[in-house]
Amino acid sequence: MKMGKVDAPATAARAPGYRPVHQGLAERLACFHDEMKRDFDGINRIAIAIYDPATDILKAFVHSSEGDNPFEHTVARLADLKPLAALARTGGRRVINDLTTHVAGTPAHAKRLLSAGYLSSYTVPIFHSGTFHGFIFFNSFQTGYFTPEVLQRLRPVAEVVSLRTIMELDAVRMIQAAVKTVRQISRARDEETGAHLERMGRYARLIALRLAPRRGLSDEWVEFLFQFAPLHDVGKIAVPDQILFKPDRLTPEEFNVMKTHVTKGLEIVDTMADTFRVGGAPYVRVLRNVVAHHHEAIDGSGYPQGLTGEAISLEGRIVAVADVFDALTSVRPYKRAWSIDEAFAFLTEQSGKKFDPDAVELLKNSRSAIADIKSQFAETDLD
Ligand SMILES: [Fe+2]
Ligand SMILES: [Fe+2]
Repeated sequence: MKMGKVDAPATAARAPGYRPVHQGLAERLACFHDEMKRDFDGINRIAIAIYDPATDILKAFVHSSEGDNPFEHTVARLADLKPLAALARTGGRRVINDLTTHVAGTPAHAKRLLSAGYLSSYTVPIFHSGTFHGFIFFNSFQTGYFTPEVLQRLRPVAEVVSLRTIMELDAVRMIQAAVKTVRQISRARDEETGAHLERMGRYARLIALRLAPRRGLSDEWVEFLFQFAPLHDVGKIAVPDQILFKPDRLTPEEFNVMKTHVTKGLEIVDTMADTFRVGGAPYVRVLRNVVAHHHEAIDGSGYPQGLTGEAISLEGRIVAVADVFDALTSVRPYKRAWSIDEAFAFLTEQSGKKFDPDAVELLKNSRSAIADIKSQFAETDLD
């Protein structure tokens, strides 16, 4: 069986103290699919897409597909997918028992399924406490597979897949919420605005999505990177105020203290992972890599470990570019906002020195998406 990949590529370094343990949702879904085959031999693909209400975007998340997965790395605006938007509104389910006759309705999507050999589909929206979170798609190589009898038996199965998805997303949100709370009750630097974090997370996702086909990154991994990129500086809560808020240049000694925010951040992540008993989960691994490596540089001039090249996790390499790009293009008390071109010129100059050349190149190819993100998450007085 072909299934969604969960791990970052083998070249990515593990953050110090890495502890391997449990499976990601993609692996669990694949096992579940295997078991289901006993009762539902005609189900050849199960896929989950999740919804981001802030941008009305539906994103491929995990899948277990026997044929090709026609929606790998697919992102679409829900409003543009009329039939699915209707299901999200009403909570209804959709059965298409012959995709060949359905090409007229949602041509592009039905065609992609057909070309991968799928002939029928059953779509179930995922709701939790009345809120829409995404969809489960069941597909079959057979026409007419989803009979009323199969649908009835499939109902509890869809329920279980829904719940597991919600649990996974909740665990990620729980960690985000914990970090957010800690930061709110302590203090964050002025420049760490909500808008900065929104934008840099989305820049990281842009780079990761474009890198995904080249590096075999799963949509699940891309999603975790997006969710956790904004937590890169969690360790700053452990840096003393007089250093964190110092308006002038830091002395070398002060800078050394500032650098400890990376290891402090890792300690915070590990404490949280232990508290929530999620240590070793794939998403915690992504979070650890983000925190551990966001100040490492390709040429070894970064900190705290001075790692070089591919020894730096991909999470760290992507987040470094996304974070610096947003810092450059934002106003700070001590500098104006650089234009996108000026920031690109800086990244290009530092490509292969401080920054991963692929990450720089892919961000530079994303000009219109960057403009959308900048206008949607502009700085406000509330930040
Ligand atoms: Fe940092
Ligand atoms: Fe930042």
